[in-house]
Formats: sequence, C-alpha cells, structure tokens
Amino acid sequence: MTAGPTREAIDPVRFVSNRSSGKMGYAVAAAATRAGHEVCLVSGPVAIEPPRGAGVVRVTTADEMLAAVRRHVRGCDVLVMAAAVADWRPKHPAKRKLKKSGGPPRIEWEATPDILKAIAPLKRKTQVFCGFAAETDRLAPEARRKLREKNLDAIAANDVSKKDRGFESDRNALTLFFADGRARRLALATKAKCAERLLRELEEISAQKKK
Ligand code: C5P
Repeated sequence: MTAGPTREAIDPVRFVSNRSSGKMGYAVAAAATRAGHEVCLVSGPVAIEPPRGAGVVRVTTADEMLAAVRRHVRGCDVLVMAAAVADWRPKHPAKRKLKKSGGPPRIEWEATPDILKAIAPLKRKTQVFCGFAAETDRLAPEARRKLREKNLDAIAANDVSKKDRGFESDRNALTLFFADGRARRLALATKAKCAERLLRELEEISAQKKK
C-alpha cells in the first residue's frame, strides 16, 4: 500500500505538496490487516496513525517513495497505490532559505518519476496492481486511460470536486474500473466501507490470477 501525499523541497523550509490526508490509503491498509493480510504501508507525511499490525515505511519525496516501492513490491501479491504523488518538483531546490526581500522566486519545474509506470515492468503475472485516480473532470475516460497507460488491473476513481467526499473527508464514492473492461460504482460511504469493498474486488482478482 502507498498512501498520503509526497513533498518536494523548494528550499530548506518550503515545499510543494497536495491535499491528500492519507485517509483512503490508510483505510485500505486497515481493511487488509483486519482481513488477515500482511501489509506494508509506504506512507508520505500524514497526520494520522497507521493501522495496528501494518509495517510502515515513511517517505517524503517521490524519489523516496519509488525506492521504497521498488524494494517491497517483489514480495507482494497486491499493490495499491493510493498515494497522491506530487507531479512536479523544483528542478534546483535552493540550498539556503530564499529571502522574502528577493521577491517571488522564479522556479524551474521538472516532473517527478511516475512510480506505477516505473515499476510496471517488474509486475509478475500473478500480481495485482491497483491505482487511484483523483479527478475533477472526465472521470471515466481519464481513469480508463490511466488504467491502460500504467498497466493496472484496477483503478479506483474518485471525484475530488465535491465537498462531501474525497480529500480530507472521512467519506468517499469510488468508481472501480477493471482491466477486463468492467466498471463498478461504489456508492458514497465511509472510507472504511469503500476500502473493504475495494479490497474484496482485489482479493478476487488475485485469486483468479493464481488459479
Ligand atoms: O497520473 P495520475 O497521477 O493521476 O495517476 C494516479 C495514480 O498513479 C495513483 O495510483 C498514483 O499513486 C500513481 N502515481 C504514481 N507516480 C506519480 C503520480 C501518480 O505512481 N508520479
């Protein structure tokens, strides 16, 4: 499991990140430990406690998250990437604090590594990879594109433009898209409930792949 945001330094005191609270990913990790699975939770900086029983690897940047996922993915049956990886980072983070008196800095940006794309070639036939897609527009086509481009077995899409769900909320409404073309809408529910339903689907795909 990955969860939470990543952070990228602008200078020693400032960073760029996003609104991910980690709640959805932590809920999946909790559901999995409750179901008796061994869980390795690679987590960005969040303000919530990890579920008891899960092994936790704490990371800050996209590079650190990629390294941790690479290290742990070999031994897992299912990878769920719920982390909201920061898409861009300052190409040259300042070594010393930028002075306010210098005016707004001009920052050159570069893309962070796409973790799922980078590890897709390592995926074994029996492994299940599931991503998340946080969208404000064109939810279904965007989710299906990511499912294909990242070589996933499933993707859980959620609309992050609504106030009553998603980022920072305790509730969510997920639409699951599967590599075989199926889609399943999970109604608005607590993240714990959404996590249980998602986990059940992933357990089923995993069992099928191992047949
Ligand atoms: O492309 P987008 O960021 O919307 O894709 C979302 C999915 O890809 C999530 O599962 C997220 O964890 C993963 N991701 C990634 N590496 C990135 C950005 C996103 O693995 N740099």
